[in-house]
Amino acid sequence: MTQRAYWLSEDAAKRLDGIVERIEASASVAVDPAELEGVHERLNVRDVMADLPEGMSEEDFVGVVKLAMLTECATDSYAAVFYEGARDYNASWLGRFTERTWVPDEYTHTAPFRSMLLSAGFEEAELDREIKQVLEKTYVHACGKTPIELTTFGMIQEFLTDHWHGLIAKLLKEHAPHAASLATRVKRRETLHYIWYKEMTSAQIEENPDLLHLVAATGATFNMPGVSLAPEYQLRALEWMPFMGADLDRNARVIVRSLFDIAGSPARAGEMLLEIAVLRGLNIGKMSAERAKAIIDRLGGRGYGLLGEAVLECVGLPIPPEVQARADARLAGGVPTVGALQERLRGMVRSSIARRIDLSPFSNA
Ligand SMILES: [Fe+2]
Ligand SMILES: [Fe+2]
Repeated sequence: MTQRAYWLSEDAAKRLDGIVERIEASASVAVDPAELEGVHERLNVRDVMADLPEGMSEEDFVGVVKLAMLTECATDSYAAVFYEGARDYNASWLGRFTERTWVPDEYTHTAPFRSMLLSAGFEEAELDREIKQVLEKTYVHACGKTPIELTTFGMIQEFLTDHWHGLIAKLLKEHAPHAASLATRVKRRETLHYIWYKEMTSAQIEENPDLLHLVAATGATFNMPGVSLAPEYQLRALEWMPFMGADLDRNARVIVRSLFDIAGSPARAGEMLLEIAVLRGLNIGKMSAERAKAIIDRLGGRGYGLLGEAVLECVGLPIPPEVQARADARLAGGVPTVGALQERLRGMVRSSIARRIDLSPFSNA
């Protein structure tokens, strides 16, 4: 089997069918379109624009909401990629989830942001022209199209979209609470989509751990869809985030935590994260990730567990309890055991690696 091959047993496919069936039972949509008729007259978004956070211009604010509207409107372009992967890899569960749960929900995500822009004074015709332009563009999918690459892509993309809508809700909350509640309702759907894609990704890894390479490949090439569909706004997102109160450290923490959960152990997560770093050409301290990988591989891979734990330490997540228990082990009389001393030494090495890790590429996608 080559590294990039995608394969799942029939039993695994049945398990994924079961997951999708269960998800379908709670399928819903963010906002009923009928609810939005004429709502823009009551949204007060102009009041928000009159009192924006320091450093944020009206043009920035409009860009922030337009980015949400324009990336949400291209549901069919994204769905086409998921249908293609489901068909080519015989993953009927993924096709079914996309068609019955994901698409109907996503269809309701554009209108709330369009209503906010109408409330800000934009003409319907102008907004619809911009939407049409995006729909006519070719969506460039930056990652692979095997089912696990698609669910990993979905997981990261939904998480970042969830975060974006949350930032918009925060901007709107004080002066336009109704608009904020609409953004929050869309955000909550994205949270569910993130959880569901994560569950589908984890299930595939449990059934075939070799697929972790494909998760790493997705982490390495991930790009938000707006990069190809609305670059004039997407490429400014990082510049706007500080004004919107974004917590990039928290984002890195959630993404790293998700990758750990999927990998199933610090050693496998360490190996996967280092693979992402190699593919992205990143450094760990002064050393290239590629060189770090060569050294760890020469040691027989023992360093991956340590690296995985260092990443946890780096993002402020607890290290596995069994590691902590080893470090705390004491003999009768309170003297640390030899094993505990070794574990503490290992902990010092882990901390020194953690200080050299820069995880910002994981939250800046
Ligand atoms: Fe959405
Ligand atoms: Fe979504």
